[in-house]
Amino acid sequence: MKSKAENLVFPKEFLCGLASSATQIEGGCQGHVWYRWSQENHIKDHSSSLRAGQHWQRVDQDLQLLSQLGVQTYRMGLEWARIQPSASSFDEQALVVYRTEILKLKALGIKPLLTLFHFNNPLWFEDSGGWMRADAATVWLGFVDFVVEGLGDLVSDWITINEPNVYLYKSFLDGEWPPGERSLLKYLRGGRQIIKAHRLAYNLIHRKRKEKLWDRDQATLVGVAHHLRIFDPLHKWNLVLRVLSAAVRYLIQDWFLYAMTGPKTKAAPRKWADFIGINYYTRDMMSMSFNASSLFTRQTVKKAALVNDLGWEIYPEGLYRLVKKQWKAFGLPIWITENGVCDRSDALRTSFIADHLAYLLAAIETGVKVERYYHWTLYDNFEWTEGEAAPFGLFALDFETQERTMRPSGQLYAQWARSKIWKGVGQQ
Ligand code: BGC
Repeated sequence: MKSKAENLVFPKEFLCGLASSATQIEGGCQGHVWYRWSQENHIKDHSSSLRAGQHWQRVDQDLQLLSQLGVQTYRMGLEWARIQPSASSFDEQALVVYRTEILKLKALGIKPLLTLFHFNNPLWFEDSGGWMRADAATVWLGFVDFVVEGLGDLVSDWITINEPNVYLYKSFLDGEWPPGERSLLKYLRGGRQIIKAHRLAYNLIHRKRKEKLWDRDQATLVGVAHHLRIFDPLHKWNLVLRVLSAAVRYLIQDWFLYAMTGPKTKAAPRKWADFIGINYYTRDMMSMSFNASSLFTRQTVKKAALVNDLGWEIYPEGLYRLVKKQWKAFGLPIWITENGVCDRSDALRTSFIADHLAYLLAAIETGVKVERYYHWTLYDNFEWTEGEAAPFGLFALDFETQERTMRPSGQLYAQWARSKIWKGVGQQ
């Protein structure tokens, strides 16, 4: 069900935001696995994470872009390898850079939402076994502890892990990302560590902010940004495909959702989550395959479907379906922590956003508590193995000159973010 209204009027308290990640915009860091993966020529367009949007040197310029867009909140990431360059050392100076950025953000009236892990490991961690280590979760917790100690007075909202499922799938099942493995066993082993890491971080952030009385003015809110997609069987009435789709959905999505949210407790609606973060992009139509490392499934795109530049189906109704489902399952507030489209010409982006917002509003109107929407992303960035060739930005980025230019969709987004009203949907 989609909102039929011509103007989409969102509640006044709804927060409009923008999302990014450290590795994809900062550039300059050589101590992590994505730099090495670039050096080893795994990036399709031969670009490197070393360049990206040079955000590390251009913080002020980028804050101006955010302010131009009029958003109320910004989801940003920290580069673990910068803050902890070796197993036994932390870089106070790097933390100061992030602290300064957050202070400036707040001075602009923009609320930070901080991501602690977004697909990237320091080399020292990766080379000592990474998420396969039996103590991986507690090793990572050392980094979390240092960060919360240094930034916890400024930041109340946290995402511990971005898309545990995508990270593990790409790194340990289909092997496209470092360390390039194809092993279901490793996927499961990494999953156990990442689930544990989230639970420990959830407890640590709450405990520390409470002890230091930092949570007096701003309640602490911690969750995961889950990558959720729709898995539909390619042939609706094929029973085997339906079972297979359900099994893949469990292994790739629901396992993480349930394990990282936890059961209800007396003290809290859920043990390890204060909100459900949803990153939503597309739907997969499931068919059979005989390749074990792809879990015996092939993910295909519906015939004649509208697709983005990467060939992903644009399916706005999926957001409605997912939001309703998670609300029913967990009863926690929902934040759309990512939603966006790869679209160089900007021909699709405006209606992409309008349609997704229309479905979101329809869900809100049925009583679902959706509190925030973060668009992915501010400007074109280093899109993992796609390199610099997959533009998701409201601003176009010329990687050579580093010039940022607002796309027409960015102007409409700014109007929405300021007024909370998306105008003229019925006419599109
Ligand atoms: C990730 C982002 C990525 C985006 C577009 C999400 O899965 O969190 O890092 O850039 O999708 O592919």
